[in-house]
Amino acid sequence: MTDPAIYPVPAEWKAKAKVDAQRYAQLHGRSLADPGSFWLEQAKRLDWIKRPEIAGDWSFDEKDFHISWFADGKLNVAANCTDRHLATRGDQTAIIWEPDEPSEEPRRYTYAELHKEVCRFANVLKAAGAKKGDRITIYMPMIPEAAFALLACARIGAVHSVVFGGFSPDALAGRIQDCDSTIVVTADEGRRGGKKVPLKANVDKAAPLCPSLEKVVVVQATGGSIDMEPGRDVWYHDMAAMVADECPAEAMGAEDPLFILYTSGSTGKPKGVLHTSGGYLLWASLTHEMIFDYRPGQIYWCAADIGWVTGHSYIVYGPLANGATTLMYEGVPNWPNASRIWEVADRHQVEILYTAPTALRALMKEGDDFVTKTSRKSLKLLGTVGEPINPEAWRWYHEVVGEGRCPIVDTWWQTETGAAMIAPLPGAIDLKPGSATKPFFGIEPQLVDADGKVLDGATEGNLVIARSWPGQMRTVWGDHQRFFQTYFTTYPGKYFTGDGCRRDEDGYYWITGRVDDVINVSGHRMGTAEVESALVLHGKVAEAAVVGFPHDIKGQGIYAYVTLNANCEASDELRNELKQWVRAEIGPIATPDAIQFAPGLPKTRSGKIMRRILRKIAEGDVTSLGDTSTLADPSVVDDLVANRVG
Ligand code: WTA
Repeated sequence: MTDPAIYPVPAEWKAKAKVDAQRYAQLHGRSLADPGSFWLEQAKRLDWIKRPEIAGDWSFDEKDFHISWFADGKLNVAANCTDRHLATRGDQTAIIWEPDEPSEEPRRYTYAELHKEVCRFANVLKAAGAKKGDRITIYMPMIPEAAFALLACARIGAVHSVVFGGFSPDALAGRIQDCDSTIVVTADEGRRGGKKVPLKANVDKAAPLCPSLEKVVVVQATGGSIDMEPGRDVWYHDMAAMVADECPAEAMGAEDPLFILYTSGSTGKPKGVLHTSGGYLLWASLTHEMIFDYRPGQIYWCAADIGWVTGHSYIVYGPLANGATTLMYEGVPNWPNASRIWEVADRHQVEILYTAPTALRALMKEGDDFVTKTSRKSLKLLGTVGEPINPEAWRWYHEVVGEGRCPIVDTWWQTETGAAMIAPLPGAIDLKPGSATKPFFGIEPQLVDADGKVLDGATEGNLVIARSWPGQMRTVWGDHQRFFQTYFTTYPGKYFTGDGCRRDEDGYYWITGRVDDVINVSGHRMGTAEVESALVLHGKVAEAAVVGFPHDIKGQGIYAYVTLNANCEASDELRNELKQWVRAEIGPIATPDAIQFAPGLPKTRSGKIMRRILRKIAEGDVTSLGDTSTLADPSVVDDLVANRVG
């Protein structure tokens, strides 16, 4: 049988669909034609202290630039994720926690228990001095306390800023400083794939660089030995023993900030993407229910880390707002071996599994036996996120993992968009491997050419979103001008995603990857400028240029061209030293895959580095370098080609 190009909605999915094809077309049409009433109706799915009467109020134009949703509504996000479920499903499991070490027992929390844990955590934060509006940095492993900490912040109206546990002390310090966090919540150590991550020791290194920091709340996760600084550091368990497990939920305006999450862009330091309360929660919860076709009682597993937006929206906020049972996994998909992810799915009878293409490619490479020796009978729906999925990996996921019976929802979105934007509804939309398919309710994608001209029909261009949606980011923390500048000036009046995209004759969207200087390494966004800045901090480096190149497992790898200072000798030792250097400066995910020493970089006469040429060489595509005649010194290209690494 040849591989079909299109996978129709299976008959049983059609029969039970929450939203079928016709209804999708109707609802999507209405969401665009009459957004005010559509969104006020959708807003009823949340528990409001004061129900909003205004939906979206926004303009992307420079003169009148503003974005708000449900501005007159009041709610508490944490209460939506816990209190509101107590009467109906207090005894239902809210969180299942699967430890890194498979021989250890999983932990389970019912909604009633989760409520108590969140209240207790909130009281600990208050005792540590937290007030409404304060920023609290969360630097945690994947343990249930990480989810409690997020919800505890939301409960008291503090703004959380989660920093991925794989980031270095310097990267952590930069993020604490940028939003002037007063409290850091961390753990003694994290565990991932059998290895320890020295979280508290990293906080100790970051802390002296952070004048705003007053308290460090430390959760005991591994029992590893750490230093505690008197006056600054407190054990969570000591404080938890002294506080009540009741804590009133703060009444928050829908537009009050919920969280900041730092993400990489084309230029400069990572930006603090700010999301607010009402619109974000609505977006996370509605997309979670519709795209995953979530039904009460199902065990749902998003295998992301809470340090990324996927963890925020699809481990914590979306599922818990919907009263789901959400699985949190401490470890990595391929440890102790390549069966782990499927074993965890079997162990907990997971019905919905959401993961990243990079994990699938890594597992696929290990061979089918690791999959086929597990049952996977519980699986009903599979999802992917983070980067384009190559059709080969899609088909493997579909045929080998899902045995042909599970639809795959390929969800395109960004930290900035809050939750999924382009994705199939599994009962409504036929699937095409590699396509995120169709826009969610309220989303109006457009493809534009370099001049901003809107392209119709089957075409390829830059992806913009022509109108606001409830889950849209509201600002860059501390720099509203940068927010406007980054997203709304390239194509005035529209939100520019930074992604390229193709639309086919059936109106399906196919994301082709970033069109800016952001690379996507294993589904993690990395700004080339960040890696370059880290490299030039090294005493021997004069100049660096970083580009992405296609990588079998990671999607994109990091390729760095480095010019050394005079009298510095290129060597393999120095190459390794520089890789370790970047790792220490930013974190392991930023480690360059290849470093090429280059006596010169290709520059225009005005001194601009021609990355197009560097990308081609990194890709190994040296026969079509295009016009090099505008270079200040065309001969540098010959040297670069001759000394390509790879
Ligand atoms: C890419 C992750 C293709 C895209 C939720 C986007 C995708 C960036 C997909 C955002 C997908 C995410 N298909 N590409 N399904 N999902 N991307 O902010 O380039 O970490 O701009 O958010 O990942 O990455 P971020």
